[in-house]
Amino acid sequence: MHFFALSLAVGLHLSFLPYCAPAALWSSPFPAPLSPKKLSLIRANAINISTHSWELGTLAETLTEFEWPRLGVFSPRSIPPPARLAHGQAADVLSIAETVVAENPPGALPAPLINGDGAIGDPASIGVSVLLRSWTLQDPGNTTFADAAAGQLDYLLNVAPRAPNGAISHRDSQAQLWADFVYMAPPFIAYYGALLEDGPSCQELLQTAYDQVRMYREVLYDPSVGLWRHIALGNGTDPTYWGTGNGWAAAGALRVLATIQRSSAARAMKSQQSDLVQWVGEILDGAWKFQQENGTLLNYLNQPDSFPDSSSTALLAASTFRWASITRNNTHIPAATRALRLIRINVDDQGLFSTPSLPGAHSPEGQSFVLLLEAAVAAWLPFNLGKNPLPL
Ligand SMILES: *[C@@H]1O[C@H](CO)[C@@H](O)[C@H](O)[C@H]1NC(C)=O
Ligand SMILES: *[C@@H]1O[C@H](CO)[C@@H](O)[C@H](O)[C@H]1NC(C)=O
Ligand SMILES: *[C@@H]1O[C@H](CO)[C@@H](O)[C@H](O)[C@H]1NC(C)=O
Ligand SMILES: *[C@@H]1O[C@H](CO)[C@@H](O)[C@H](O)[C@H]1NC(C)=O
Ligand SMILES: *[C@@H]1O[C@H](CO)[C@@H](O)[C@H](O)[C@H]1NC(C)=O
Repeated sequence: MHFFALSLAVGLHLSFLPYCAPAALWSSPFPAPLSPKKLSLIRANAINISTHSWELGTLAETLTEFEWPRLGVFSPRSIPPPARLAHGQAADVLSIAETVVAENPPGALPAPLINGDGAIGDPASIGVSVLLRSWTLQDPGNTTFADAAAGQLDYLLNVAPRAPNGAISHRDSQAQLWADFVYMAPPFIAYYGALLEDGPSCQELLQTAYDQVRMYREVLYDPSVGLWRHIALGNGTDPTYWGTGNGWAAAGALRVLATIQRSSAARAMKSQQSDLVQWVGEILDGAWKFQQENGTLLNYLNQPDSFPDSSSTALLAASTFRWASITRNNTHIPAATRALRLIRINVDDQGLFSTPSLPGAHSPEGQSFVLLLEAAVAAWLPFNLGKNPLPL
């Protein structure tokens, strides 16, 4: 609390200084960066505690965006990736794919990449790193990773139950839609398509990824509140406006958007791109409306009695910086900057990010979300230096 008050005071005090040279970063209203040491501790913790399928998929994406941004879909000319990587390049990302595939060798297809604990979407989140491993493998006769990715795609498209509108179920036991799915599966389907490069099947898969986001939104988005519900259809629904669920939806839709933009189908898919821009924008409009005084969002965004949740705050702030970089629309940057300040303060000296967890426990995806936010800020900042001081 003390630290927060201090840094806010510094920010306000200096907020009218010109915002131009990189050195001005420290004396501007923009929050001071985390030290390289702290960032590397956050990274080490994220790797150490991620074990479940969705945590590993989120981690692989996080390491890509944070350490190897030129391989990530938000960078220009990142698709296709180079066929050959420098020694050690993306080694941590590729090792996630290698470990998962070695433990679950592709056998009779179709099959998910890893046990999803009942979830259809989650295993697919690792698929992007498996595709990257396959693409950059030096031995063309080694189809291990290509087969594993193909089996995962086949499972999603042809085995998983579907909702009446065609949305692929997030659960294997019943047709049920969770907002989480949007981050887990459509970005993989889109990346698969983008790497095919040849016209029709490339565009077809990108269209499928887009359609999945569209169909999920059709069921989960509630225009009366401007937010997504968490779980719909089947037994055990959750109609709340869960912060992280809205973060998964926004961040996943942005990856599909960026993948389409960098693919050979970009020109043929203009209307899909503007839909995705709008769908992410409406989540950001809905979420920041409920931002608390100190920058946090609440676990259930619109419920004042729900706990402040720094994990979802980080993911939605990351999505806001990405959305602003793509649209050049900085409307929500002041809100995301308040969130960034709070997030940076919430990282302790051990590089652990405090979210409301059991004592001694930390959220693996929370650790990743901090780095997704840092990566998104790093990409946004250079294009916005020298502009008017940011309104805070
Ligand atoms: C931010 O404000 C909320 C109340 O809206 C409070 O519960 C929380 O502890 C505050 N967080 C920090 C880090 O000060
Ligand atoms: C990894 O996490 C475990 C708890 O899950 C902890 O005991 C251990 O100290 C951590 N290792 C490192 C290197 O942080
Ligand atoms: C394919 O490549 C991986 C990673 O280099 C290796 O572990 C595996 O043994 C190879 N498989 C075959 C069949 O060559
Ligand atoms: C929901 O649960 C009830 C009772 O437990 C069961 O009869 C029904 O088949 C379930 N429906 C779905 C869609 O799983
Ligand atoms: C920027 O985004 C905001 C919030 O979604 C929207 O109201 C506004 O019209 C957008 N501005 C432009 C120039 O598109």
